[in-house]
Amino acid sequence: MTFDAREFRDALSSFATGVTIISARDGDRKPVGMTCSSFNSVSMDPPLILWSVTKIALSAPAFKAAQHFAVHVLAFDQTDVSNRFARSGADKFGDTDHHFDTNGVPVIAGTASRFDCKQYAVYDGGDHWIILGEVLNFDRSKKEGLVFAGGSYATASPIQPSRENDGVEMKDAPVDNLLFYHLSLAYHQVSSQFHAEIRATGLTLPEWRILACLHGDGVKRGVTDLSERTFIQPPALVDMLASMEQEGLCTLDGTGRNAIVSGTNKGRQKVAHLFELDSQMEASVFGSADTDESKTLFELLNKVITRTI
Ligand SMILES: Cc1cc2nc3c(=O)[nH]c(=O)nc-3n(C[C@H](O)[C@H](O)[C@H](O)COP(=O)(O)O)c2cc1C
Repeated sequence: MTFDAREFRDALSSFATGVTIISARDGDRKPVGMTCSSFNSVSMDPPLILWSVTKIALSAPAFKAAQHFAVHVLAFDQTDVSNRFARSGADKFGDTDHHFDTNGVPVIAGTASRFDCKQYAVYDGGDHWIILGEVLNFDRSKKEGLVFAGGSYATASPIQPSRENDGVEMKDAPVDNLLFYHLSLAYHQVSSQFHAEIRATGLTLPEWRILACLHGDGVKRGVTDLSERTFIQPPALVDMLASMEQEGLCTLDGTGRNAIVSGTNKGRQKVAHLFELDSQMEASVFGSADTDESKTLFELLNKVITRTI
């Protein structure tokens, strides 16, 4: 080699990848698994993927021999699973939520997607084996994938395309310096994505707002409080609550504007994935779900809310 191995590795790490766990069973039917970022798609017809395993991995002989294996694309909240499966020889499946599929391959829960594969070919690739798999089946969730770049975990946030200028030269306009104009643009962009997901659940926007405000164990609210939080006038809210009670989405103690409204399990289940989606959207903006930046924004928005009542 005519160049420095460390620098070669660093240069390669500027290529951002996803993170996967490959799983299979060894000759003694014991589950094997390892974290892998060398996964890639190869062919649509037949559907082929590839990955490469270092020849010195303890599980390399098992993966070379395995007729079936699964590729799990990890979700943004699975860095702990990634670290566990990157430890050579560790008990990787003991603390990992998994089951076995009909081919006996371990299937790990909570991933962004999974590809169930049959071995198609194995090639010598220097100090790695390159394993090609034919995809027999796949599974996909709405979870955002985990990214690995420059030796660190990350999440992917889309680069916003620059605004259309309709061919007119762009100049700094006073409106671009208005703080609350930015607030409304941010709200508009975030909510147009989120509202599509609400509609996909079969809920209207007011119903989502009501269920969101009743979410959580033992949460109860008066009609006036709910009206202020959901922007629904009390007369319309009272009617809406009555029909939501009939659907089992909430319960009412008392009548009309004096009713106390509680959430139900059915209502909570209906919106649980929207809460999850909200934290995924936060993570895609801020890099992870709970950052200093997101806390600062939370506090600042609270200040705006309490001071503009
Ligand atoms: C983000 C990440 C990506 C990795 N990608 C690969 C890979 O593509 N191929 C590989 O052989 N090892 C890769 N590794 C290292 C293996 O996960 C590690 O060597 C594993 O402990 C081998 O397990 P075993 O010796 O128990 O078989 C990666 C590790 C990390 C943290």
